Amino acid sequence: PRKLILDVDTGTDDAVAIMLAALHPALDLLAVTTVNGNVEIGYCTDNSLRTLDFIGRSDIPVYEGCPKPILRADFPVPRAVKKDGGMHVNTLPVPEPTSRKADKNAVEFLIETFRAATEEIALVPVGPLTNIAAAITADPNFARNVPELVIMGGAHYTGNVTPSAEFNIWADPEAAAIVFEAPFARRVLVPLDATFQALVSGADCGALEALGTNAGIAASRFISQRIKGYDSTQPMKTLGSAPVHDAVCVAYLAEPDIIETRHIHVAVETAGIHTVGRTVFDVNKRGDNEANTHVAFGANGPRFIALLKEIFGGAAA
Ligand code: BDR
Ligand code: CA
Repeated sequence: PRKLILDVDTGTDDAVAIMLAALHPALDLLAVTTVNGNVEIGYCTDNSLRTLDFIGRSDIPVYEGCPKPILRADFPVPRAVKKDGGMHVNTLPVPEPTSRKADKNAVEFLIETFRAATEEIALVPVGPLTNIAAAITADPNFARNVPELVIMGGAHYTGNVTPSAEFNIWADPEAAAIVFEAPFARRVLVPLDATFQALVSGADCGALEALGTNAGIAASRFISQRIKGYDSTQPMKTLGSAPVHDAVCVAYLAEPDIIETRHIHVAVETAGIHTVGRTVFDVNKRGDNEANTHVAFGANGPRFIALLKEIFGGAAA
């Protein structure tokens, strides 16, 4: 199976990504690392542990990483404090995590693991890029040691946190700029343009719940909560359905054809008044920079949904 490490800010879509990676027979999830993002880091770690416990995969270690952006004291605009632990703690039908986070810091773990790796391990950050930038900064060889980096983030058409920026890139723009300038052998980016082509509906949630497995039930609850959020608060209306961004990156590792990519240059805006955190995609080769990223502009929605049902309905789930 394909080895990977998921770097998450769990988060309902992160939780679905964790379950897909932990349960897919063609994938081997070696570890989860957590980063400040959707909620404060302690909650991201707790939510990740709880998700793994719930599907019987508490053997997968969880390492906690950076509690705030790499340079900034906070996000470009500080978020409202979420006191309840955020996104999905209350929707998961388990009380507290029974397992504990690993002792080592996530950045140290990532540096050591990729330095010592004798087999290919994909690194899949689906939250702000703080841990990855911290690893690059601390170890000049880090990027070269990672054979494939698969990022969920960015947007070409429109942002989801500001008119121009997507959350993961906006939340730590300096970290994102470091990551896009680093010499990874292969960098894949799954932006909103692709994840919005893989919307999961209320009817799909019903089918996931009906699988009767812990993973199916949890996925159904997480995604239903996302649909409620999109219906009530998100300006990008998705009419009774929602994107499950982070899980699309995991689906790609199992089935590369699930996304359609173009190899182009990507830069991250760190200084713009209106555009901080924007991913600038050189789709028309207007700049002099060489292509540095395989950007997904398309995703196969029906196949993505079928995959969730297959894996969450399987014997291990
Ligand atoms: C990204 O931001 C977070 O809210 C999600 O978990 C996802 O990784 C989408 O913009
Ligand atoms: Ca995320």
